[in-house]
Amino acid sequence: MDGAASSLREKTLARLTRTGSKGVLRFITCGSVDDGKSTLIGRLLYDSKMLFEDQVATLEKDSRKHGTAGEEIDFALLLDGLEAEREQGITIDVAYRFFATEKRKFIVADTPGHEQYTRNMATGASTADLAIILIDARKGVLPQTLRHSYIASIMGIRHVVLAVNKMDLADHSRARFHEIVAKYLEHADRLGFETITPIPMSARYGDNITARSKALSWHDGPTLLGHLEQVDAGSDLLSGAFRFPVQWVNRPNLDFRGFSGAVASGSVKVGDEIAVAASGATAKIARIVTADGDLDEAKAGEAVTLTLDREIDIARGDVLAHSDARPEVSGQFAAEILWMSPDAMHPGRSYLLRAGGQTTPVSVTELKHRVDINTYEHEPATELGLNEIGPCKLATTRPIAFDPYKDNRETGSFILIDRFTSQTVGAGMIRHSLRRATNIHGHAMDVTKTRRAEMKGHRPAVLWFTGLSGAGKSTVANLVERRLAERGCHTYSLDGDNVRHGLNKDLGFTEGDRVENIRRIGEVAKLFADAGLIVTCSFISPFRAERAMVRELMDEGEFIEVFVDAPLEVCMARDPKGLYAKAQAGEIKNFTGFDSPYEAPESPELHVKTADIEAEEAAERVIAMLRETGRLGL
Ligand code: ADX
Repeated sequence: MDGAASSLREKTLARLTRTGSKGVLRFITCGSVDDGKSTLIGRLLYDSKMLFEDQVATLEKDSRKHGTAGEEIDFALLLDGLEAEREQGITIDVAYRFFATEKRKFIVADTPGHEQYTRNMATGASTADLAIILIDARKGVLPQTLRHSYIASIMGIRHVVLAVNKMDLADHSRARFHEIVAKYLEHADRLGFETITPIPMSARYGDNITARSKALSWHDGPTLLGHLEQVDAGSDLLSGAFRFPVQWVNRPNLDFRGFSGAVASGSVKVGDEIAVAASGATAKIARIVTADGDLDEAKAGEAVTLTLDREIDIARGDVLAHSDARPEVSGQFAAEILWMSPDAMHPGRSYLLRAGGQTTPVSVTELKHRVDINTYEHEPATELGLNEIGPCKLATTRPIAFDPYKDNRETGSFILIDRFTSQTVGAGMIRHSLRRATNIHGHAMDVTKTRRAEMKGHRPAVLWFTGLSGAGKSTVANLVERRLAERGCHTYSLDGDNVRHGLNKDLGFTEGDRVENIRRIGEVAKLFADAGLIVTCSFISPFRAERAMVRELMDEGEFIEVFVDAPLEVCMARDPKGLYAKAQAGEIKNFTGFDSPYEAPESPELHVKTADIEAEEAAERVIAMLRETGRLGL
């Protein structure tokens, strides 16, 4: 991009930020390149004069050279150019484009053309007031049309433009247009949109984009831009309760301590009394500081630094609110989850939840059902796959401050992040908190964990042996426990086969069952550690996420991951229980190493290769590790 363009973009951005979100229309276009999405956006930018002469000249030249639009300008080429530019930064899911007419400013969230993943659309939709649902007049309403509409609806969009594009290829037929609109309304009726505005158009020729079309003169509704300019889609964020997620604590010197972030909703004035949602501490706003000087009032969308009249504890991630209108604070709530990863979501697995500036480990405690977004029907489900949606219950490690999504889209939504790849794997909308858990309080016992350990003369530990079946986990664990017992240590051993006969006899070997298997074992190991014991746990535990979850359950230094490593061929040759032979013969399904994955630990405390050393030596290394980390004495 040349300097002029980038500085214009900066200026546009600055102007938009300064005027707050009032009057700005944020919208998203849903559809694929084939539906004419690039052409539509290109046309809007062109017609609203947001392109520069050099860009237009290049576009005209390219259109003649590569275009598919004859003598006309091929607007898709413009977006393709921008797309290429975007592809350099491969991680950007959504590009925001800014343009303005005399009447209004616009921010359009443009999601990459090939929409295999709903992630991009959901991200764009989460901040949009309106969705343009693009339909190719020849193809009519497709499953993706319904999917996009459903996502727009759950992401809180209330206004829809049904853009029936490529009318030139459907003979500008009024009957065809009406047929498509009728079909769409049949489905969209239950999505609760406030307005649905159908517009027949041909983005390539500009018909009904900014100018009325002769060929479509039967259309008595607005043109696209005409509608976008006047639609009252004012977001509720301005009128909502004041919410301010603190992005960072700004402390350039000892005399200044401010809290920086963007006002998520509502507004705040100097002198207002605010509260920190989680702690309940209160103070008054002393100053509202911006780069352009102090303000008396800050509104939704504005980035400011707040200073307070007294020192209270506030950290990044805290949410500030008026003290008489606070958000809820809870670690358990019901939410709608939209899953966006090819790796299914499993109840019991630990993810990271990010809401506003808050990040905390979370697990889904219950998945109620799955919603088929093509038919909008409920189906029973034990997991959520790519693009699937379902109501869930969630439990976070730390309580978070939030509002129900229907009251506040900013503080009522969250994303779920894979703990290892750091990819966004899900988006959620909070329905309500689950009060159920608020009447459960820990009871402080007089005999503490420390006291129990003291009586045993050593510190508690959880030795977690992970590896393929036949790698030698139980063998090494058994030797370790024997040595510990010889030294007078108090131990207990949890082992795959014996736990699966009792506590976990209802579980099999699907991914979901394995997640639950390890979750329960983790909780049991925690109780044994609390009792002051050294616990050996021998489980394949093939997934990193669950091992990390168990690690987090324990106190610092208590969890010792031992990777019992032997190549698959060696394990197969050993085949102590004849299970590999059965797996090979196809008699056992989901066998680890065969048709079910094993994710090796990345940084275990100890890595023993049982193909190279004797089990005795492996056990000796574990004991040495316990000794060196001071767990054998007090
Ligand atoms: S885990 O994957 O959920 O951690 P766990 O360690 O409890 O597995 O149980 C593994 C034991 O179950 C194996 O040692 C083996 O004896 C037996 N088993 C039976 N079917 C399977 C299977 N499909 N995959 C792995 N182990 C199996």
